[in-house]
Amino acid sequence: MKKYLFVANWKLNGSIEFISNYFKFFNTSSEIGLEKNIIVIAPPAIYLNEVYKNIHSMNIFLGAQNVDKNLTGAFTGETSILMLKDIGVKYVIVGHSERRLLHNENNDLIIKKFDLIKSLNLIPILCVGETEKEKKHGQTKIVIEEQLNCVLTALGTSAFRNTVIAYEPVWAIGTGLSADPKYVQCIHKFIRNYIEKYDPISAKNIFIQYGGSINSVNAEEFIKQPDINGLLIGSASLDYQEFLKIIELSK
Ligand code: 13P
Repeated sequence: MKKYLFVANWKLNGSIEFISNYFKFFNTSSEIGLEKNIIVIAPPAIYLNEVYKNIHSMNIFLGAQNVDKNLTGAFTGETSILMLKDIGVKYVIVGHSERRLLHNENNDLIIKKFDLIKSLNLIPILCVGETEKEKKHGQTKIVIEEQLNCVLTALGTSAFRNTVIAYEPVWAIGTGLSADPKYVQCIHKFIRNYIEKYDPISAKNIFIQYGGSINSVNAEEFIKQPDINGLLIGSASLDYQEFLKIIELSK
């Protein structure tokens, strides 16, 4: 049976009260697929610990939305990978388009963060994907190949071991316009084939997720596709019932 990775990216949302309500109805029941799949909650950094208190006894992992490129020192306002590891984080999102576009993160910075995450034995969720303009110009595969290439060139062919790739077309994020599942399948196959050229074992085992306007109505068509191994969910993950419904679809 296929095992999925479902990641809730809460982005800049949540509060102590929100967290306490959210987890009231989570339990370890295999009925809702928490046992069979890998479930990750990625709250804002300030709430990581609060979420951890709620999930550590369940089969749910803690994810961070971002990390600094430095380990320690005079970097006001930043969060280090050492600190994330210290408080129980297992997965770290890196290269999200909101960070690439709104915080000017380029591939060099993303590689540094990716490398740090791996060096501490945490799992990076590397986001890749094209903008609407790039899609219109038929550049989707070129853009994704470049985003993957820079990691491979800097870190070598083992870069994709213990790594997650999230395909998040920028035009599908937060727009309500999810991509066509068949189109996503093609892109995921393309990503898997790319990795296979350098590391056939990782290509077989790697989780390749889709993200962009996923909800409990459209999720099933995505997870049915052979090369879609999970979902990176933004706004729908803020509603615990909606998030659980999506997980249940994997049964
Ligand atoms: P939405 O599900 O809100 O479109 O966000 C997707 C996303 O960016 C997850 O990282």
